[in-house]
Amino acid sequence: MERTFAIIKPNAFIAGNAGKIIARISAEGFSIIGLKKLYLSKREAEGFYYVHKDKPFFGELTDFMSSGPCIVMVLEAKDAIKKWRDLMGATNPANAAEGTLRREFGDSLEANATHGSDAPETAAFEISYFFSGLELLV
Ligand code: PPS
Repeated sequence: MERTFAIIKPNAFIAGNAGKIIARISAEGFSIIGLKKLYLSKREAEGFYYVHKDKPFFGELTDFMSSGPCIVMVLEAKDAIKKWRDLMGATNPANAAEGTLRREFGDSLEANATHGSDAPETAAFEISYFFSGLELLV
C-alpha cells in the first residue's frame, strides 16, 4: 500500500463540492487516513508551493490557495500516487478527461479543484507539512 497527499482547493470547497469529491474518493477504493479543513495563510501556501517559487504563477497560485478554506487529506491505496493523479485528471481542467475530478469541478489552471503529490518524496514532504504521525495512526 502507498500513501499520497491530496487537497480539495478553495474553489471546490466554496462551490459546495467537497462532499461529492470525498464520496468519489471512497467509491474509488482509497482509505482516508487523515482529513482536516484548513484556511491557509499566504505564508503557509508559499511554504507548501516552495518548489514553484520561481515560476511566474507563484504569486497568483498562493493568493488563490489562501483565498478560502481547503480540505487536506492523506489517502492510502495500492499505487495511491498514480491512482489519485489519474482520478484528478490533467492539471488544466480544459484538458482533463471526461469522468475526472478536475473536468467536473475545476474552473481554471489554478482553481483546478484538487491537488495531488507527484512522487513518493513529494508525498512524504506534503504529508508531513500538514499532519503529524499521531494524526495518522490507524
Ligand atoms: S509545472 O510548472 O509543470 O511544475 O507546473 P504544474 O505541475 O503544471 O502546476 C503546478 C501547480 O501550479 C498551478 N499552476 C498555475 N497556477 C496559476 N497560474 C498558472 N498559470 C498556473 N500553472 C500551473 C497548478 O494548478 C498546479 O497546482 P497543484 O496544486 O500542484 O495542482
